[in-house]
Parts: sequence; C-alpha cells; structure tokens
Amino acid sequence: MAKAQVKYTCSACAASFTKWSGRCDSCGDWNTIVEEKPLSTSGPAKKTLGGMRGKQVPLSDLSTKEAPPPRTQCGMGELDRVLGGGLVPASAILVGGDPGIGKSTLMLQAAARFATAGLKTIYVSGEESSAQVRMRAQRLGLGDAPVQLAAETNLRDILTTLETEAPDLVVIDSIQTMWADNVESAPGSVSQVRAAAHEIVTFAKSRNVAVIIVGHVTKDGQLAGPRVVEHMVDTVLYFEGERGHHFRLLRAVKNRFGPAQEIGVFEMTGDGLSEVTNPSALFLSERDKPTAGSVVFAGIEGTRPVLVEFQALVAPSPNAQARRTVVGWDGGRLSMILAVLESRCGIPFAGLDVYLNVAGGMKVSEPAADLAVAAALLSAREDTAIPKDCVVFGELSLSGGLRPVNQTENRLKEAQKLGFSSAIAPSRSKAGDGTGMQIRYMDDLVGFVGEVFGAG
Ligand code: TYD
Ligand code: MG
Repeated sequence: MAKAQVKYTCSACAASFTKWSGRCDSCGDWNTIVEEKPLSTSGPAKKTLGGMRGKQVPLSDLSTKEAPPPRTQCGMGELDRVLGGGLVPASAILVGGDPGIGKSTLMLQAAARFATAGLKTIYVSGEESSAQVRMRAQRLGLGDAPVQLAAETNLRDILTTLETEAPDLVVIDSIQTMWADNVESAPGSVSQVRAAAHEIVTFAKSRNVAVIIVGHVTKDGQLAGPRVVEHMVDTVLYFEGERGHHFRLLRAVKNRFGPAQEIGVFEMTGDGLSEVTNPSALFLSERDKPTAGSVVFAGIEGTRPVLVEFQALVAPSPNAQARRTVVGWDGGRLSMILAVLESRCGIPFAGLDVYLNVAGGMKVSEPAADLAVAAALLSAREDTAIPKDCVVFGELSLSGGLRPVNQTENRLKEAQKLGFSSAIAPSRSKAGDGTGMQIRYMDDLVGFVGEVFGAG
C-alpha cells in the first residue's frame, strides 16, 4: 500500500493530516489547518525533496551574544594550547598517529589530568585489557587519578554505559577496534569506522560529553585510517615523531575552537610523555661549530616561533639519475628550489646527489623555509658554512624573488632569545626595532648568493 501523503498541517501545532478539517485534532484550535503545497513541481513528486514540505526551522541573527565555552585545562600546557586553550565541553576530538607513537600513553596522561581537574572521565580501551591500562597508569605514576576504565569494543554496550554514567569526558582508544553491531563488516573497515565514529560523536553531542577518539594511521587500504572521520569531529590532532627520536609533536590540523597548525612538543621518557616547553633549544642542541650545509631556519608553528636546523648534503652522483632525498620537508618544493637555483642563479645541481634533512625529526611545511633550504643547499654545494649565529627565512618565488613572510618580529625575537645575533630576511619584512638583531635584507636569490657566497 502506498504511504498516505501528508497534505495538511496545523499552523499552530505543526501536526500533520491527510485530509482537511475545521478543527485540529491535536491542539484543538479552529481554522488552523492549511494545505501543504509542494515546494517545487519539477520532477516526479515523490523523488524530489521539494515534493513535500518540511518543518520551518527557527532562524536567529548573528548579533546574539554567546558566552565563550567554559574550557577545562588539564595542566599540561602543551596539550591545552593545541586544544586552543583547554578542553571545550561536548567537543569531539580526533587524535591520529602511527601505531606505537605514544597515543595511548598521552591520552591516559591527559585523562588522568582532566579527571584530577574535576571532569568525570572514562577511558575505554578496545586494545588493551583493564589490567594492562592499570599497569601502564601505575608506571606513569597515575595510579591514584580518578579515571574509570573499561575494556570493551561493543559500541552498543559502551554507549549504554556512558548513558548511565553520564561522564564529562570519554576517551575511545581506538576507533579501529570499535564494533557497531548494526553494520555488517569487520571492525576497522571503512564502514565500521565511519558508523562507529558517527554514533559516538552524535551521542556525545546530544549528551554533552566531550569525546577524544584515538585513530591509528594505517598504511594499507584494508584498515580505515583516521582521515575517514576527520570531517565529523571538531578538532583533529596528529601525534607525530620519528621512531628513533624521543620527542613527539602533537599538531592541530583542524580546530573549530582554536588556531590550526598549533603544535605541542613532548618527549617520550621512561615514565611517559613529558612536556617540552622550549622546543627550539631541543632542535638546536647539537650545534657547536659552523658546518657547511647546516642552516637555522626561524619558523612559526601555529602561534609559536620555533627554530629548526636544515641540513643538506650535496655530493657527485655515481648513478645516471641523481638522487633527491628529503626528510621533514616537501620533496616537490625541494625540486622547485633546485630549479630556481639553476635557472635564476645559474647554479646547476645536475649530476649531484642532494640530501636534505630537518634535524631532530621535525617536519616543516612553511614556505618561509625556502630561503633556508636554498641556503643549506648552496652552503653544502660550495662547502662554505653560514655563520653560526645567523638565522634565515623567506619565501622564494619562481622568478627568484624573495617574498616577505608573516610574524617576522616573533621569529627574530625567538632567535635572539636563543643566542643568535644576525638574520637574513626578505627585504620587505616588517621588523620592529626592538629585536636588537643585525638583519641583512635581501631582494632576491641572486643578491643572496652574491652576498653570502661571493659570486656563487
Ligand atoms: P603507546 O602509547 O602504546 O602507542 P600507541 O597507542 O600510539 O600505539 O606507546 C607505545 C610506545 O611508547 C612503546 O614503544 C613504549 C613507549 N613508552 C615509553 O617509552 N615510555 C613510557 O612510559 C610508555 C608508557 C611507553
Ligand atoms: Mg594504543
């Protein structure tokens, strides 16, 4: 039987009827029932959305004063800053990262801190048993934190528990282990991960629970990665770092409640992750004498200046095809800089292997690092060191010109704080006088090569 179409609606109480009457059966008002005309008439009436009317939604204007969300700080400054100044109630946060990078460790520490700060916190582990999580907590010295644990993967059971317990914060570790029984595919598959994340986020929003979802970055296509759920959450954080290095970066790639690209720096120690409040010192700690190929870049990560060291090695290639190897910087951008050096400055790299590395395992994505990369490449090729006390920054255009970058003054201040006394910057940079640095302004790459490396 075809479903009877709603044709008439009460304008007082919005009850729907299939035929007209003088009095609304629902609210009892007279003469309030009106016929619903379809919104549009194009196409078959049943198929188009305009074939049947919906409810009118209330509209509001932009001038309504909304109080800023009351945030909870966990006390780990690095994490609070990446969150945009603390945890916003009922927000959904995704924490992605490679397996083994330290996500569970960080989230357990965060859960303990938030619980101590007064939030009712539940940590749901789908990967480890409660005993394992407890053992880890004890090793991290968090045994006394008022965090409730659950080792469970069945999403229906988890949501039922959360409904009864009504926590302020839930950590789901990890989304790939969660299993929604209404979806017929294995945990970790794209449809399971998507459905589970959707359930969790909708539940959390409707019950006013903040939720942190942990997701493993996966290399093969069988398992769904955290990217699948990025659009559903308010905040996306990636936990990155090189296996061989001790420090880890927590990077905000999306944040509805704060600046994106903000980073928090942590160090993996024997008892968990500890904060690194002055990352520049960490990234630069091994510099003692000037070395050819090494250049310090004054960068900005999020709202914070960070100094990082670019290292380049240029050597004659034994192969027909010269190598271009990059760690911590974009390979395409390196090719572009090599091309600019070759065609605008006449400095060829053909037949030379080029290796570029960002020291300490840091990843840099700012175009402002172009000049530092060019300087490192030239310095390595010419075997001429850049002065040890000098920082470099500036964006290169394909014409070989140097473009000014943002936050020049912050970059210079950070450099000065760490004992640098001179800088090379694009000529239209706006630097205040207060920095006390000796700054050499450059118009283009040709000028830079002439000034720093003689005629090139
Ligand atoms: P883990 O948090 O389990 O990673 P993820 O959840 O991202 O898969 O961290 C695992 C690694 O961290 C493991 O190799 C051991 C190391 N680790 C420490 O070095 N110190 C510690 O205190 C802890 C708890 C872990
Ligand atoms: Mg884990």
